[in-house]
Amino acid sequence: MSVVDEEQEKEVARAAAALSGATRVAVLTGAGISAESGIPTFRASDGLWEGHRIEDVATPRGYRRNPGLVWKFYNARRANVATVKPNPAHEALVRLEKHFAPGFTLITQNVDGLHRTAGSRNVLELHGNLARTRCTGCQEIRNRGLEPLGDDPRCLTCGEALRPDIVWFEEQLPPHVWDKAVDAAMACDLLLVVGTSAVVFPAAGLIPLAQESKTPPATIIECNLTQTNASGLADIGLYGRAGELLPRVLKHMGV
Ligand code: OAD
Repeated sequence: MSVVDEEQEKEVARAAAALSGATRVAVLTGAGISAESGIPTFRASDGLWEGHRIEDVATPRGYRRNPGLVWKFYNARRANVATVKPNPAHEALVRLEKHFAPGFTLITQNVDGLHRTAGSRNVLELHGNLARTRCTGCQEIRNRGLEPLGDDPRCLTCGEALRPDIVWFEEQLPPHVWDKAVDAAMACDLLLVVGTSAVVFPAAGLIPLAQESKTPPATIIECNLTQTNASGLADIGLYGRAGELLPRVLKHMGV
């Protein structure tokens, strides 16, 4: 075993021990957990999001300016999600939930729905879901699956224009979802942070919140390909692919 492998194995064992000693577990996931399923993450080095500027496709202003472009972008993302499957990292979190339920909450920034597809139940989707539409007129939210919706989809109830039910930049998170995420972060004794660069707030603020809101502070485990903004807060660092590391942690726990 190389020194790096030995260090990683030590952290896997520490993570397994910390989880085994926990009773209330919260998990915060980001795009990295779906990367091994084939969904690209957000922060590419060119600052573009699949060839688009973020302000053109993921802000209310962008939608007002060019709703057709926004729908083209989201229809492409919907079509991509329709072709992918959950990976071993999503599946590991399903097994963790079965082990800890009801003391388990999964908070995700992802809009791909893969946690539920994998079988996770107590899932808080902070940024919405690609399968859902929201009417700009009557505000009705509907699950439209992943069928293509065209460049100008209309509300089936009132005929007004639809938008994706996604939280865009400059928008508030849905308060009923956010409040539950805050409760879970404040109540947990262990927070597992998987595949997020931890730069988008308020989601990233759940990490210090879990630590600061009680004594003793929650143990923070980070699982990511690389160190992130959250690494300074992490007690245990699992650096590598989530789809490989999380199943290893569970194996150590005998779960
Ligand atoms: P990012 O794209 O910012 O970060 C993805 C993270 O996943 C990076 O830190 C990668 O190192 C890590 N990663 C990639 N592959 C991995 C793997 N196989 N195993 C473990 N880690 C891996 O995505 P988020 O942090 O989710 O918001 O971005 C947060 C929010 O910014 C998104 O929800 C979205 C975006 O703008 C909205 O759409 C509102």
